[in-house]
Parts: sequence; C-alpha cells; structure tokens
Amino acid sequence: MVFEHELDLLIRSSYPVIYVPTPEEERAEHLVSYVAQQGTPAREVYTWDFVNGFDGDLGRHPGNPVNALGEIEKARPDIPAVFVLRDFHRFLDDIGVARKIRNVSRELRTSRKTIVIIAPSLRIPTDLAEEITVLDLKPPSAQEIDSELDSLLEQVKVRLSAGSRDALLKACQGLMMTRIRLGLARAVASYGRLDERAIPLILEEKKQHIRRTEVLEFWPSTESIEDIGGLDILKGWLEQRAAAFTSEARDYGLPNPRGILLIGIQGTGKSLSAKATASLWQLPLLRLDIGRLMGGLVGESEAKTREMIRISEAMSPCVLFLDELDKGFAGLGSSFVGDSGTSARVFGTILTWMEEKTAPVFIAATANSVESLPSEVLRKGRFDEIFFIDLPSDRERREIFSVHLGKVRPNRLRDFDLDALAFQSEGFSGAEIEQAIYEAMHFAFDQRREFGTEDILRAMGLTVPLSKTASERIRRMQEWAGSGRCRPASSDAAQAGLMGQLFGDASLPPRQ
Ligand SMILES: Nc1ncnc2c1ncn2[C@@H]1O[C@H](COP(=O)(O)OP(=O)(O)O)[C@@H](O)[C@H]1O
Ligand SMILES: [Mg+2]
Repeated sequence: MVFEHELDLLIRSSYPVIYVPTPEEERAEHLVSYVAQQGTPAREVYTWDFVNGFDGDLGRHPGNPVNALGEIEKARPDIPAVFVLRDFHRFLDDIGVARKIRNVSRELRTSRKTIVIIAPSLRIPTDLAEEITVLDLKPPSAQEIDSELDSLLEQVKVRLSAGSRDALLKACQGLMMTRIRLGLARAVASYGRLDERAIPLILEEKKQHIRRTEVLEFWPSTESIEDIGGLDILKGWLEQRAAAFTSEARDYGLPNPRGILLIGIQGTGKSLSAKATASLWQLPLLRLDIGRLMGGLVGESEAKTREMIRISEAMSPCVLFLDELDKGFAGLGSSFVGDSGTSARVFGTILTWMEEKTAPVFIAATANSVESLPSEVLRKGRFDEIFFIDLPSDRERREIFSVHLGKVRPNRLRDFDLDALAFQSEGFSGAEIEQAIYEAMHFAFDQRREFGTEDILRAMGLTVPLSKTASERIRRMQEWAGSGRCRPASSDAAQAGLMGQLFGDASLPPRQ
C-alpha cells in the first residue's frame, strides 16, 4: 500500500518525472494503472517503449525517445495523464533526451501530466537529478503474496494445511513477485504439484538474492536446538516463542519478538544458540558481517547499513545474526572514537532501528565480553532479553558430552562414562569439551583403535581451559551478571548465582 500511496501523492503534487527502479516491470505497471484509475480525477495511462512506441490515441514514435517526449509535451495539459516510459534509463545519458526532459519537466510542473520511468536499474545522470524523483517498489507484502498463493493454489487445485501454507508464505517473503512465481513454477514442474517441497526451492531463490549484497550472508542453519547441551532457561524461552511469527500469533495480538543478546566467554555456545534459533523457528538466518560493514570509503558504511536494513526487512520474518557485537563496535562506549565517527554513526543507526523497527526481524546478537560493549546496547527496549551464558555446570557438561559423543558414536554412547567425564571437565566450555573429544579420537585413530573415556580424560588433562587463563575476566563477568542486569541462561547458573549472593561470592558454580 505504501508504494501506491506515495505514487499518488507524487502525482498529485505535480512531480514531473518519477523513476521506479525495479526488475518487476509488469507489477510496477499494474500498480501505476491502479493508482491512475483510483485517483480523483481518474488519469489516463499511456505507455511507450522503444519497439512499439505509444499505445492509445497518441502519435506512436517508436525508436525515437525525443519525439516521444515531444508528444507528451503536446498532450493537453488539462487532461490528467500518466506517461509510462519503459527502459528509458538507456536514453538518459543522451544529451538530446536529457535536454528534452528538462524542457518538458517545466511544462509538466504546471500541467496534470506525469512521466513515470520504469527500468530494471537505477541510473540518473547528475544533470537530471533535479527533475527526477526515485520511488522504490518494495517486494510484495505478505497480503499480496497471500492472494498470489491463493490464486496459484486454486489453479493447481491444491489445498495446503494451515502450517504448510504459513511456512510457504514465510519463505516467499522478501522476494520479488517474478521470483516467487519462478520458484513456485519450478516446484510444480519438479514435483507435479505444489506442497511443502516448494519451500527449499523458494529459499534457494532467496539465497541467490542475498548473495548479491556484500554485508549480509544467508546462512543455512543446520544447528538445531537438540545440538545445545544445557542452557535450559534459554532453550525454554526460545521454544515458547517458536510460533511467535505465525499469522496465528499476529491474530492473537502478540507483538513480534525483537531480539536477544547472549553474553558469555568464548566457546559456551552463544553462536550455536543464535543459529539454532533460526532453525527452531523455521526462519531464514541472515548473518551481518560487521567488519565488512565498517570497511570501505567514507559514506559507504552508512549506505551499506541502510541497504542491510532494507534487505533484512524485505526478508522478514527472519533472524538477523550479529555475532561478536563487542568486537565490531569495540571502543565506542568510551570517549575515544577511532575512525572519524563512522562506526558511531553506523552503530547509532542500527540501535535506533532496533528500537523502532516494526518489521519482524529478530536480532540474535552475541558478545564475548561486557566491558568493551557500548553501554547503549544494554539499555532497555533494545532486546527482549539479555542472557548470560556461564560455564556449563556438572549436569550441563554431561549433556554436552552426550550431544557430541552422540554425533560421532551414535550407537556407542552407553560405553562412555558420562559422569566421570562431566566431573573431570569442570571449568571446560562446550567448545573445549568438543575439542577434547576430537583430540581423543586422534590419539586412538593414530593407533587404529576405537576411542573411549580414558582417551578423552587424557586429552582433557593436556588442555588448559580458558577458564583457568582468563579466570579474572570471567569472575568480573559473573559479578556483572549477578548484579541483575541480565538473565542466566541456565537454571543451574541461576541457583549458583543465588548461592553466590547469599554467601557474598559469585564465583564458579559449586561442584555437585
Ligand atoms: N552448550 C553447548 N552444547 C553443545 N555444544 C556446544 C555448547 N557450547 C559450545 N559447543 C560447541 O562448541 C562450538 C563452538 O561454540 P560457539 O557457539 O561458537 O561458542 P561461542 O559463540 O559462545 O564462542 C559449537 O559449535 C559446539 O559444537
Ligand atoms: Mg561465537
């Protein structure tokens, strides 16, 4: 509706030339006609292209853009009309065409005639910048896709379950209509019918679309919630919101979840949990490369940020993964800003967007430390919840062993002494546990034998976990977390924290 509304406004305010850059010529023309018909008074629509010239009762002038503009100039000023010019981006560099547009524009400003250029790409020579106004055509809204799906399903005589239909709709969002039709047509061609199997094909179309931007990456999220050991509070929170982006939730009146921030030391499963969120909620996962966002020439970062926001909103509902926020925006919290304010501006834009965005873009952010994190991030309203991920408790380490051993030896899980492994791995992070298992497999494989509990214990004996070398940093982080500025991600940590407060010591969770 936004496009129609803005176009109508521009036409009524006598903007002479409106430029709609879009690959979707048909859809754009359809919308222009719609706006013209609905206007009071209704407006005539004439379309010109290089091969056929004008349609209707105008002089045709195929192959001659200057004469086509002359025809517009000659048309009666009191009859409201919209002149759609296809592919005109190709002629704008021509001195004759540019001059003619500037001449005609003067006349258009005082008449009820408007030129609309529809072209697949945006190319405006600087000398025409004053005359031309750009109007973006966003990808179709959920409603538009919904009715498109309706008519398609009608055509192929298929009824989908509410769940599948919802998933299909979600997959389509952010794509241009032509791409959606292509994806759906491919599905019908491959499977002879339209059903859930179309979803991966549609997602593939999306991936190709995203690849063209430089700062966003489309991540296939293979991690699932079962791959996370421990972190029961966090997992419960995510599971409770698994259906929060469905139309059912919208009808119920639920607001869209906005985002979470996961804070904790390296290797505790923050990135893993962020990625698992996308698969649990069956949403596409977009990863923002903050480093690339910041690189480049002056002004580029700001432009890239806007583009990133535009694309992620167009892709919504989706999960936007901001990994290691503290690294990307290090130093911003202090008065020292290194790069002439670029990162501060980019950061400010992102923060404001996080607070004001209405599109269902769920932000899953992680940070390895709080100290280098600008304090604005932690302010209320930015995230739904800030979770602190502590080192795993005894029970959680057991679960993590079980997850990873279950992956490499699904049939031999019983052979391992999980209790001993959990007990001996105190102070180890999930990533270090995973590493120790691989290390043990290397020992044993080198001797061409199966590996066992002993090998893992030995590997752990040779490892100095980060919690030893960075104990001071971890203690400060636990203290910070204990002061109530965030929620513990696990109930074990919550209990330990409570005990820490009771005994005036928020150090490592006690052994059980
Ligand atoms: N709680 C956990 N459960 C299972 N595996 C874990 C856990 N925490 C870490 N891992 C393992 O360690 C790897 C690295 O963890 P990651 O999520 O990247 O840590 P972080 O982002 O907190 O530094 C994960 O891919 C996973 O294999
Ligand atoms: Mg990480």
